[in-house]
Amino acid sequence: MKSGVLGGTFDPVHVDHLYVAEKARLELGLDRVLLLPAALPPHKSGSVSDYPTRLAMLREFVRDAADRGVCLEIDETESEFRPCPSYAYRTLERLKEKYASDSLTYIIGSDSLFKFGEWKYPERVAASMPVCVYPRGGADGGEDGVAKECADMNARYPGARFFAMGAVSRGVSSSLIRFFAETDRLELASDMLTPSVYAYIKKNGLYRGYAAMVEKLKNDLPEGLFRHSLNTAEWAVEHAWLGGVPFDRAFTAALLHDSAKPFSPVSAKDAYPEGTADAVKHQYDAVTVLKTEYGITDPEVLDAVKYHTTARPDMSRTGKLVFLADKLEKGRNYDGIDRLRRIASKSLDDGVAAVLEHTLGYLHSRKETPDELTLSSYEWYNNIRRQNGS
Ligand SMILES: [Fe+2]
Ligand SMILES: [Fe+2]
Repeated sequence: MKSGVLGGTFDPVHVDHLYVAEKARLELGLDRVLLLPAALPPHKSGSVSDYPTRLAMLREFVRDAADRGVCLEIDETESEFRPCPSYAYRTLERLKEKYASDSLTYIIGSDSLFKFGEWKYPERVAASMPVCVYPRGGADGGEDGVAKECADMNARYPGARFFAMGAVSRGVSSSLIRFFAETDRLELASDMLTPSVYAYIKKNGLYRGYAAMVEKLKNDLPEGLFRHSLNTAEWAVEHAWLGGVPFDRAFTAALLHDSAKPFSPVSAKDAYPEGTADAVKHQYDAVTVLKTEYGITDPEVLDAVKYHTTARPDMSRTGKLVFLADKLEKGRNYDGIDRLRRIASKSLDDGVAAVLEHTLGYLHSRKETPDELTLSSYEWYNNIRRQNGS
């Protein structure tokens, strides 16, 4: 029997998983596709729904898929390793024993492929079974970029058989679904989920951990600024995978980035870096608001908010993400924004360089003086762009 193994966190499982499974079945001539939920994903920090909840959603999903004529099975091998972290090398070796008479193919997304070197014992994963990679779009260079990376993997790891599948992903992400649920608008994700999974999330009130935070922000900000904050968070969670930023960081930092704006400046003049314009001061005030009003302690979130207007050299991944999300969210509209969005959807570093260049050009045209940090950031990210040859 020919079986495909589609692993994932499935938090939640969504329609792209269905398309990938079906396309893999047809392209590879599989008899079945096994869905392999990760018990405790080592690469994911932040909050992940517990295993039984993700499993329950998968069961609903399998039933919905069967209604559409797609036959899927769930494999719970990873639950055997709980509470230890699950690692692909161990799971795949276990699957080979379990399905000894099967011909197995491991199916992964291109985002996983490009981080393959960071996996535990990648050489053991590569040698265990063929790996079929589906392009996730954006940063992976499309089908050609994925095919090239597969060839590099095959040259690097003895016995490796990586190959690319045709494009299939429609850009649905679990993070975006969580974003709509967290902001009490799950209905906007209804076409990203199968009917029973949608109903399960709604009935059980999943992904509502930030309900109080969202409600407070809604009460504290004027309507337009709250909408901008939602849009910024949407851009951030949608692009978080580019920088490997966990959902919680992307969501909280982007959502709260302007939380001090209506009240700023609140501190004495000398509390801000010399020469800081009034319009910029809210980025520094936001740190206090996040700490005192929202109980945020994560230094990466606080730092991202602190420099979301000016940027700073050597920002964290979250910092780059929030800086870009603020400038490129869907409510923004200015000359050149489409080009900037295209660049940023492929690389956060290139995106930051391009946005800073655009900002400096805009300020120059208005004869306004840029913030010192914006100037030094432009130097920093332009250097990176030059080094990358992009
Ligand atoms: Fe701002
Ligand atoms: Fe903003």
